[in-house]
Amino acid sequence: MQGAEQMPAHPAPMEGQGAYNRNSRVQAAGLSPALPLLEEAARIVPLGSEREPLLVADYGCSEGRNSLLPVGTAVRLLRERAGSERAISVVHNDLADNDFAALFDLLESDPESYLRDDQNVYALAAGRSFFEHVLPPDSVTLGWSSWSIQWLSRAPAEIPDQVQAAYSRDAAACAAFAQRAAQDWIAFLRARSRELRVGGRLVVLGMASDDDGAFGYRPVVEAIYAALLELVSAGFLTEAEVRRMVIPTYARTRAELLAPFGPSGRFDDLVVENIDIFFGDDRIWIETGEGRDAEAFGARWAAFSRASVFPSLALGLAGGGSDVRRTEFFARMEAAMTQALAAKPEESLIPLAKLTLARV
Ligand SMILES: C[S@@+](CC[C@H](N)C(=O)[O-])C[C@H]1O[C@@H](n2cnc3c(N)ncnc32)[C@H](O)[C@@H]1O
Repeated sequence: MQGAEQMPAHPAPMEGQGAYNRNSRVQAAGLSPALPLLEEAARIVPLGSEREPLLVADYGCSEGRNSLLPVGTAVRLLRERAGSERAISVVHNDLADNDFAALFDLLESDPESYLRDDQNVYALAAGRSFFEHVLPPDSVTLGWSSWSIQWLSRAPAEIPDQVQAAYSRDAAACAAFAQRAAQDWIAFLRARSRELRVGGRLVVLGMASDDDGAFGYRPVVEAIYAALLELVSAGFLTEAEVRRMVIPTYARTRAELLAPFGPSGRFDDLVVENIDIFFGDDRIWIETGEGRDAEAFGARWAAFSRASVFPSLALGLAGGGSDVRRTEFFARMEAAMTQALAAKPEESLIPLAKLTLARV
């Protein structure tokens, strides 16, 4: 595939030092409709042998702020069923270069931390791609993954006319992203099928394309791409650098999410218990949009993009993630996006998928 060999080997994790924790309220709002699925799963998963700890896995945890509520809910409901003597392990998984220090700081200090009220729960980390095995076979009682499965294992191609494949008109780039997404989803499912205990459940919430194929976030994606082109005009970035800068995410449709399960409804040892495509709230629009505070609207979407997407874009700089211009790149991108979005605040469509997978 054109340019694929020059692309970064894998996406960068979110911006560290608490930046993702401070700038992920859109994600916090989007995940809440999946919480009832997690509660239901926590009430029915088999608890197995009393001698073994229960294991809750959190795939793609970032710095943990948005894990506190779902993981805390899972721990509380499992505790009610299993009694106080049963140890519960929580494994937070993310890429190895994720800021796990920020996660453990939060777990120790935040009043909402699930470690506060339960002395028999143990927080652990697994720094490895979730496209591979991250936990032992047959070990996971209950899994959770929010806002993570849209991240691909790598950007499969350059996108000549965009930063996000969903808005590209380049057929080859679009096909490469779709193919990578299909392969990654299979790898993710295969690994989870091996890790879950029989009867265990995994609740997944992630970006999706709606049933008309819409990716959403149009104003934000346009502002990111426009900011990159502005930095080329200003001589700060080269065209070659911008060509390497792509957002390595893919929002699957319902059909793409279900494809591995085929007519039998089963993939490896997994079945889909339920799936729903829905729209998340644009919290930033609700709180600042419609002319209320255009500057804050622009600044908050720019901070959202900075925390979640800029680290991956920065890998396209000539010096990669450690390029000396990285800090200035972040600052200039954030300023340009703030200005563009404040000039014309618009609500974003936020299509999401929530699903429960069960190990049979
Ligand atoms: C947008 S954050 C989601 C954080 C949190 N779960 C939430 O709901 O806000 C996506 C996370 O997925 C992680 N991620 C991306 N690809 C991954 C992979 N292959 N394996 C493990 N984690 C991955 C990123 O590093 C990032 O921390």
